Amino acid sequence: MTVADVLFDPFSADFYRDPHAIYPRLRAEAPVYYNAEYDFYALSRHVDVAAGLKDFDTYSSAYGVDLGMVRTGQKAAAKMIISIDPPEHRLMRSLVNKVFTPRAIQALTAMVTDTIEGFLSADRDEFDVVQDFSVYFPVDVITQMLGVPAEYRQQVRLWIDESLHREPGQIDMSESGTQAMAEMWVMYYELIQQRRADPQDDMISDLIAAEIEREDGERTRLKGSEIAGFATLLGGAGAETVTKLIGSAAVTFAQHPEQWQTLLDDRSRIPGAIEELLRYDAPVQYNVRRSNTDVTLHGTTIPAGSPVFLLGASANRDDAAWTDPDTFDIDRDRSEAQNLAFGYGIHSCLGAALARLESTIALGKMLDLMPRYEVDWDGCRRVSMQNVAGWSNVPVRILR
Ligand code: HEM
Repeated sequence: MTVADVLFDPFSADFYRDPHAIYPRLRAEAPVYYNAEYDFYALSRHVDVAAGLKDFDTYSSAYGVDLGMVRTGQKAAAKMIISIDPPEHRLMRSLVNKVFTPRAIQALTAMVTDTIEGFLSADRDEFDVVQDFSVYFPVDVITQMLGVPAEYRQQVRLWIDESLHREPGQIDMSESGTQAMAEMWVMYYELIQQRRADPQDDMISDLIAAEIEREDGERTRLKGSEIAGFATLLGGAGAETVTKLIGSAAVTFAQHPEQWQTLLDDRSRIPGAIEELLRYDAPVQYNVRRSNTDVTLHGTTIPAGSPVFLLGASANRDDAAWTDPDTFDIDRDRSEAQNLAFGYGIHSCLGAALARLESTIALGKMLDLMPRYEVDWDGCRRVSMQNVAGWSNVPVRILR
């Protein structure tokens, strides 16, 4: 078997259907995979992905984190911490870090619980865990924190969905995706104007008031575009990922009912179950970087200036890192390896504590609502999106 036999196409219908199908072959046969059609490289082994995520000098985020952006070779126009390298990254991230510490997030428990409960209806025996539940609350939570008026909160999710959607073979954002981003940008700009005139107790007002020390040592306020960048990133990251984790929970526990029973018997196991869901069925499959220099790894040289996929979802199923990685086990030894579902290093997920809190509460509510359930497998559908993966539809029936 030659390396050329392996085809990894992250924009194919096959990949959207089952991203994990190709990863074992990539790790075994092509650990430094090159895709000639789209001209990118991909790292899939745990050791390489973890090292790549930590090494921001070699693997830059400044050109964006998706292939469409990185392959332009232009630095990302919109200022968002996910697409900024040090030292500016540290300065910008420090403006929002304190809002997302585990302690600060713990203080939001009541708000997050109320929000989640508001989207759960107890009087139906059949519903779609994603479309009727998990699409709604994550975006509502983060946009409340930002200060987005209620009438725009779900619209933010629809705009983000549109911008991430990819038809098979489509790499760049569609016209409707670009239009959606433009409309969202305008909404945030107008909101920033309103908050400048009339500050409130929300993140947008805090960002307007914040001062940042620029690289030249000067202290300035953030520009409107920088604040809109924060809001766009936080809204997007907050909207897509927990939604997918909860859809995945409904599917995975239906396949492992004995572990659902374990949670029913002992709710203190929920946090461990969430870590295992993140490892086993990661909502974020990969982030793309651009190599700053030539890199030689496993005998292959990645030339400077190449897009490099860091496949965290593959790394999390690498049997060199984990025992029986394809087995879902909420009791697994989590100290065996670093779980890369939230990334690693300086760009690791800012919202991890919030994601864990939301997921813990949501899973608890699902245990209350659907202690015994079955999935309508024929009705399950997957999203076709770049970077993230998961279920768009998981219809279930509660068994009485
Ligand atoms: C299950 C849920 C989530 C998963 C799996 C997830 C995953 C990730 C990953 C893999 C990264 C690293 C990106 C990279 O290295 O390029 C990241 C970064 C980030 N995430 Fe999350 N995320 C989740 C939820 C959230 C939430 C709820 C928020 C809301 C605040 C959030 C905000 C961010 C931000 C702002 C970054 C960029 C951090 C930086 O570049 O310094 N995430 N996330």
